[in-house]
Amino acid sequence: MICPVCKGDCLRAAEEVIADVETRYLSCRRCPPEPNLSKNISGRLLPARVERCSFCGRAALDAVMLDALRLLQSCRLRDEDDGLRSVGMPLIDVGYPLAYPPRLGRNSLILVGEKYSKAAAEAMVRDIPEIKGVIESRGVPGVMNPKEKPLENLLLAGCDLRADVVSSLMGELVVYKRQSLIHIEFSRQNSPKMRILEELYFRGKLRDVADGLCGPGTLGLMCVLAGAERVVFNDAWLPAVEDLLMNLEVNRKMLGIEEIEHMETPTRMVGRKPVLVARTRGACRIEVYHGDLARLFSRARPAELCLIDHFPGSDTRALEQACRSCKETVIV
Ligand SMILES: C[S@@+](CC[C@H](N)C(=O)[O-])C[C@H]1O[C@@H](n2cnc3c(N)ncnc32)[C@H](O)[C@@H]1O
Ligand SMILES: [Zn+2]
Ligand SMILES: [Zn+2]
Repeated sequence: MICPVCKGDCLRAAEEVIADVETRYLSCRRCPPEPNLSKNISGRLLPARVERCSFCGRAALDAVMLDALRLLQSCRLRDEDDGLRSVGMPLIDVGYPLAYPPRLGRNSLILVGEKYSKAAAEAMVRDIPEIKGVIESRGVPGVMNPKEKPLENLLLAGCDLRADVVSSLMGELVVYKRQSLIHIEFSRQNSPKMRILEELYFRGKLRDVADGLCGPGTLGLMCVLAGAERVVFNDAWLPAVEDLLMNLEVNRKMLGIEEIEHMETPTRMVGRKPVLVARTRGACRIEVYHGDLARLFSRARPAELCLIDHFPGSDTRALEQACRSCKETVIV
């Protein structure tokens, strides 16, 4: 599989990702102890640098963030008193609920933050081995409402493809995201969304499901894994639909997908009138639409259950009303 961003080998089949995620961030026998640097103190009080392990070559997260701070200071984008917290938000390239701070290998961290420059971002990716990509944040990417202009963050350097391993009582899945185009959502143990799906599963409700605001597909994919007969995916944001198609491919074996048939090619970044982009053959009938959920069931057959997972604080009343042809609607 080829990474759609850097054309390298970042994209791996789900079963491969899951097989090594438990050991991916472990220290070796000879790794020095965690530096445990304070995130809030002035950069003047921090060491100049923290060495990598001379045996396995891995770095503590603090060591990588400290290198990034020093580089940003040398580019005059941070001052002497700025500390580690000013660097930005570190995202490990395979997100997994860890009980310990990660030890990082090459190309395993994506930085999201503000007040970078393209030159500094390129230097971070070139000179700090663990940094895979740098994103300038402008807000939550995606579509809040298909009638308004969408927001994108900017990939300044490197590659922004990363994955989250999502677990529930139904099993594990891998959800890849181009993180400058898709909102950040951490995979957590006891995620409330997964608890809602588990409860629906045990009540026998995950048979014919629409994931109305599917994003890269987390909820609908979990319904496929849970043995649903039909799952309809829909999102108005084209990058979300593209990432979902990538995730169908990545999880193909685990989801029992025999064939993915590509139908219409969307032309707009933000879809209004629903377009059937793909459908699959196999254990579950999957349909993928690009369009406004408010219009989805004028094109797709209504489902027994429609899941509505909007951004926090969004008003979902009009969408619930538009999905009333489905037997049941659940706000996630
Ligand atoms: C919170 S995210 C969904 C996350 C997703 N369920 C997951 O777990 O990965 C909300 C999604 O709704 C989409 N969206 C917002 N309003 C929409 C609408 N009226 N019709 C279709 N998609 C919409 C956004 O593009 C975004 O991908
Ligand atoms: Zn890549
Ligand atoms: Zn080591």
